Order: sequence, then C-alpha cells, then structure tokens
Amino acid sequence: MDSNAVISIRDAVKSFPDRDGEPVRVLDGVSFEIHRGETLVIMGGSGCGKSTLLNCLIGEYRIDGGSIAYHTSDMDRPRDLAAVDEVELDRIRQRFGILFQSGALFNSLTVSENVALPLREHTSVDPAVIDIIVTLKLQQVKMLPHRDKMPSQLSGGQKKRAGLARATALDPEILFYDEPSAGLDPVTSAAIDELMMDFSKKLHVTSVVVTHEMDSAFRIADRMVMLEKGRVLRIGKREEFEQLRDADPGTLLGDAEQLLHQFLNGASTGPLTDRDGLSMFEKLIIQG
Ligand SMILES: Nc1ncnc2c1ncn2[C@@H]1O[C@H](COP(=O)(O)OP(=O)(O)O)[C@@H](O)[C@H]1O
Ligand SMILES: [Mg+2]
Repeated sequence: MDSNAVISIRDAVKSFPDRDGEPVRVLDGVSFEIHRGETLVIMGGSGCGKSTLLNCLIGEYRIDGGSIAYHTSDMDRPRDLAAVDEVELDRIRQRFGILFQSGALFNSLTVSENVALPLREHTSVDPAVIDIIVTLKLQQVKMLPHRDKMPSQLSGGQKKRAGLARATALDPEILFYDEPSAGLDPVTSAAIDELMMDFSKKLHVTSVVVTHEMDSAFRIADRMVMLEKGRVLRIGKREEFEQLRDADPGTLLGDAEQLLHQFLNGASTGPLTDRDGLSMFEKLIIQG
C-alpha cells in the first residue's frame, strides 16, 4: 500500500443475484488508491456501481473478493476491511463521516438532536460539552439559527447542511458523499460544494464524492475516477480530465477517450449513444 494512501482497493468484486438468482458482478475487479487529504470524485453512468462501491468502502456491504485496506492515522499498519471483526469494523467506521441519501436526518429529532446523536452513541462526552460541539458544528454549516427546527421545516439545502454537520460530529478523517447535490438547484448545489471544499481545506479530511454533476465534479476534485460496468475506465488528476473534456474530438486517441469526452461534456451524441455501447465498453476497460 502506497504510504500516501488512506484507502487501497485491490481487485474488489461484488455480486448481487439477478431476478433468476444468478450472481451478477456489479463491481468486477476494481483497483485504485485514495490519497490522504485529497478530494476524489467518482463518476460513471447510472447503475455502473458507484453507490455499491461506496457501500463497500464504508463496510456496509462485504466484498466477495479482493481487498479494501484502510490506513487511518490511528492505525500502526493497514487493516483489511474484509478481515476485521464487527468490533474493529465499528471502530474504523467511527473515523468516517457519511452523507448518503439513505442516511438522512431522523424526522422525530430536532436539527441539534440529530447532530448530537453520534456523540451520544459513540462517546462518553458530557452533555454540556456535546452541546458546545453541536453549536460549533452547526456554525460551520451556517445552520445555527435553525438548531431547534424539525427536519420537515427545512429546505433541501438546509437538510444537506444539517446532514453535513452530523456527518462531521465525530471529526472524521474521511468523508463519503453519495450525490450530495441531487435534487438541489445550481446555486444551493454550489453552496454545498463550497462547504465540502471548506471541510477538505480547514479540517484536512479526505473526501470521496460520487456525483454525476460535472460542474460540481470539476469544482471540487483533486483527482477523478470514471467507472464503467463495474470497472475503472480511467483515473487521474482533475487537470487530465479537464484536458480530455476540452479536447477537440478529432484529436482523441481511442474509444475510451471519446466516451470520456462525451460523458464529461454531457453531450447527447458520441460513443455513449452512437453505437452498440455494451460490446464496445468491454474493450475499453483499463484495469486499474
Ligand atoms: N442491495 C442490492 N441488491 C441487489 N442489487 C443491487 C443492490 N444494490 C445495487 N444493486 C444493483 O447493482 C447495480 C449498480 O447499482 P448502484 O451501485 O446503485 O449504481 P449507481 O450508484 O452507479 O447508479 C444496479 O444494477 C443495481 O440494481
Ligand atoms: Mg447511486
């Protein structure tokens, strides 16, 4: 494992049964590393396995093959998520902050009670101190005026902010986001991007973000990875993806680059739509 890597994914395989009960590989040999302190954006078409990968990274799903190794700052050596017991997994997961749609706010709790929850559950911190931490966390996301509101009284953007305050309650080392700007208008979405970058810079967290909003992806990413059919099609620095996006299509080398060019531009014509995609994609796969 690279000394700069906080997560190392090697040949990760995850299958789900299809309607006939036959296993289908949703992750089909995924390998890449996530560097300490970076913001890595994961992209790819709908259904290509992005959320599945995130769920494997946070230990929600166990992979069927390969390994996912963690090396957080509290570890003397990397730990394979597949090889740890539930107690150890729980301990590792406390180093994560998670902002998924599925992990939404509890509707029966106020905003500040939602943020306090991880502190109550996972620490023995004094209630008065919890209150101070909650105040700080809400301040960071500009939600202090809304601390006593119920989630149903909040706008979509405010719910995201509150969710972010809760995700950061335990001062995580790694933050995972699944489509954080889904359903938000462009202005609100840009404000959430600002917050994510803020956490990344000020708190030096590593951020792993799934998004298909290209504007957002290019704003926040240090590096980007494109998944296709459960495999890594391309991984690289944001600048490399910018060059591909802005390239004259005539200068692009092969089908993989044509496909990426179309995806990054959100264009309606190109290899994604012109030809029989499926068989072509198989050829394009570059194993990480
Ligand atoms: N818990 C599950 N059980 C069965 N199939 C699943 C499950 N989770 C995801 N899948 C399937 O895996 C594929 C990839 O899904 P997902 O990772 O959600 O894609 P993405 O987030 O890239 O849109 C889809 O075909 C989906 O139906
Ligand atoms: Mg998804």
